[in-house]
Amino acid sequence: MPKLAYFSVTGQTRRFIAKLPHIESVEITVTNPFIEMDEPFVLVVPTYVSEVMEPVNDFLETGDNTRLCMGLFGGGNRNFADLFCFTVHDLEQQYGLPVLHEFEFQGSDYDVQKLESELDRMSQKTKRV
Ligand SMILES: Cc1cc2nc3c(=O)[nH]c(=O)nc-3n(C[C@H](O)[C@H](O)[C@H](O)COP(=O)(O)O)c2cc1C
Repeated sequence: MPKLAYFSVTGQTRRFIAKLPHIESVEITVTNPFIEMDEPFVLVVPTYVSEVMEPVNDFLETGDNTRLCMGLFGGGNRNFADLFCFTVHDLEQQYGLPVLHEFEFQGSDYDVQKLESELDRMSQKTKRV
């Protein structure tokens, strides 16, 4: 089963991840962004200006992390209109990673299901490799 890696500034994304207690997750922090993943994972990140998101770039550029990242879940706030979840789209452009889903704040039941089903789908795929 692929794992989760996430970044959170005000705690919303952390609360979203906590809704999947059965999935192993690692938190990227400002003080420790250089975590080396050793299995495929999904990256879940909120939306902020690029300066705030620098730890996520550091994380993706650590070890084999970009290659092992299976896709992106973006958290944001629809009040930002055209800027809703722009961070995951920037990361898609920068690192060629697919955006799998966008959600608001700590995610709804639907968003949790969506993450579970993506992880399931990926574990089927990685088993076949
Ligand atoms: C200063 C600031 C700027 C933000 N800018 C955006 C934005 O441009 N687009 C967006 O979709 N959400 C934006 N958000 C909303 C956050 O990305 C959203 O609330 C997210 O769930 C926060 O996750 P976190 O609590 O894990 O940091 C912004 C929030 C703050 C506080």
